[in-house]
Order: sequence, then structure tokens, then C-alpha cells
Amino acid sequence: MPDFVHRPVMLAEVLDALQPRPGGRYVDATLGGGGHAAAILAASSPGGWLFGCDRDGAALAAAQAKLAPFAGRFELRRGNFAELTDWIAAGSCAGVLFDLGVSSPQLEHAERGFSFQSDGPLDMRMDVRQALTAADLVNTAGEAELAKIFWELGGERDARRLARMLVRDRAQRKFESTRQLADWIERLAPRRGRKTHPATRVFQALRIAVNDEIGSLRSGLDAALKILQPGGRLVVITFHSLEDRLAKDFGRARARDYTFIGGVDVPELREPRTPELKWVSRKAVTPGPAELAENPRSRSAHLRVLEKL
Ligand SMILES: C[S@@+](CC[C@H](N)C(=O)[O-])C[C@H]1O[C@@H](n2cnc3c(N)ncnc32)[C@H](O)[C@@H]1O
Repeated sequence: MPDFVHRPVMLAEVLDALQPRPGGRYVDATLGGGGHAAAILAASSPGGWLFGCDRDGAALAAAQAKLAPFAGRFELRRGNFAELTDWIAAGSCAGVLFDLGVSSPQLEHAERGFSFQSDGPLDMRMDVRQALTAADLVNTAGEAELAKIFWELGGERDARRLARMLVRDRAQRKFESTRQLADWIERLAPRRGRKTHPATRVFQALRIAVNDEIGSLRSGLDAALKILQPGGRLVVITFHSLEDRLAKDFGRARARDYTFIGGVDVPELREPRTPELKWVSRKAVTPGPAELAENPRSRSAHLRVLEKL
């Protein structure tokens, strides 16, 4: 798969966090091109085993080729990591890795429709077997739903106005391509000296919505906790604040020795519980200067590590 090139982020830090050992069983929930998976298999030799999954068929094929030297020591599956418990026995793994977001080929291949750097269909599906595309959302979702998506998933301040204008203008002409949408947003919300393109937030929001990234991550983290064995490590790399907050809140809630009701943490409303996880590094690990210089896409990566108790 020569045109599938994705550089794994924070490879040394991931290995340091997972501590793969011979004979251990590991899960790479976001295989991509298989860069992290290959390193985990190499570090867990001899006898280490890896289960890998990805929703993207192209990623799976690329990972299959990359992992060929480790034949017999891995199993790969195309699917959503939210379903990990359907594939892996409870309490059986020494480590689970989530390297979230999109791969470089997903962004760079125009026909996938993730990016407005080049023109492509308004698609954004990680799994092309899925019915819902970004064009479906943009052309059929109601104004209130679009505004909610732009604001909650993209942090777009102009969410309500953009949603209102979108619903008005799509009645004249459907939105079909990435450049068409990006140019339309730029006309409504000019750059005014900003470095990032004014469509960046809307594109992020649509991608997260189309792929139900937040719902998948919630279920994926719960599933990971179930399949880990005591002492097993959960490593999560996030690329935007929404998923980072989710990972942090997940860790916090399960590392606490109490729960509280009503969403307000005051002593009177606390109930004791046994913590399921502990933080290995509570503070997020971020890429060092050498990696940042070499791979600018790593700049928003935050790595968090938890250990099952
Ligand atoms: C940043 S890339 C991973 C790169 C990989 N670590 C490597 O070394 O090449 C993220 C991958 O996760 C996949 N992905 C995102 N959400 C997923 C989900 N809910 N279930 C399965 N795969 C998912 C994407 O399709 C993409 O291939």
C-alpha cells in the first residue's frame, strides 16, 4: 500500500506507557497504517499478541501489509472500537491503545472528503459502508441541529448564523463538495488576519458528527476498561479538546473512590466506591520539540495513561 503513509505520533512515549512484554496481549483500537501496532509487536516479541481494529478498510489493508513480518501473532478486524467487548474476552489484555482522530491518508486523499485543502465530495466517513455522509447532514439536517453540531463539536462561535444561512442557501443549491462548502463559509466569515481557515471548525464539527466520534469514544473507553486485566495499561492519544476532556473525565471518574449524584461534587452527595483505574500520568504527555519539527500534525496530540486496578 505505497500511498498509505501515516507517521505514528509519540511512538517512544506510547511504548514507554504500554510497556509491552513478551507474551503479553495488546489491543490497538485505531490501527491506521499499523505504525504503533508494529512497534508493539516488535517490543512484545517473542510471543506477544495483538488485536487491531479500524473502521477504515484502506487503513486495515495498509496495516495488514505492515504487520506481515509478525504473521501468526495478530488478528485484525474492520469495525468500530465501541464493539471491542464483542471481540476480546473480559480481563484478558495487558494494554489498549487509542490513537484517535484521522490518519494522514484520510486527510490527504481528496475523494474521502475530510479536507478542504483539495476538492472532493462532502463525505468524511471513516467507514465508507456507513450510510450517513457529511453532505447528508449539511443538506438535510435542521437549522437547530446544525447550529448545535457547529457549536458543540466545533466550538464555532458563529454557529447559529452559519446554520441559518446554510439552510437558506442550500434551498438554491445543494452542497456537494468540500471546496464549495469551505469557500461558502469563507465568503460569510472572512479570515480577517486569522491563520486558520474560517471553515476549520465547521469541518471538524461535521467530521465528529458524521462518525459519531464522541459516542464511539465513550463506549470504546468503557469497553477498554472491561477487556484490561489488573495492572493493564490504557493509553489514549487525543487531538482536540473535546475528546481530551472526555478521556480526562473518564479517567477521573474511575480513579475516584466515590461517586456523586446530580452532577455536583459536594461531600454530602458522595457515595463510596472502589476505584477501577489509577493515573500513571495525570498530566498529558505532549510531543517533544524534535517530533514537532519533524511532524507538525503531532502538535495537538495529548497522551494520557491509566492503569487498571
Ligand atoms: C490517527 S489514526 C491512527 C494511526 C495509527 N496509530 C498508526 O500508527 O498508523 C486514527 C485511526 O483511527 C481510526 N478510527 C477512528 N475512530 C475509530 C473508531 N471508532 N473505531 C475504529 N477505528 C477508528 C481511523 O479510521 C484512523 O485510521
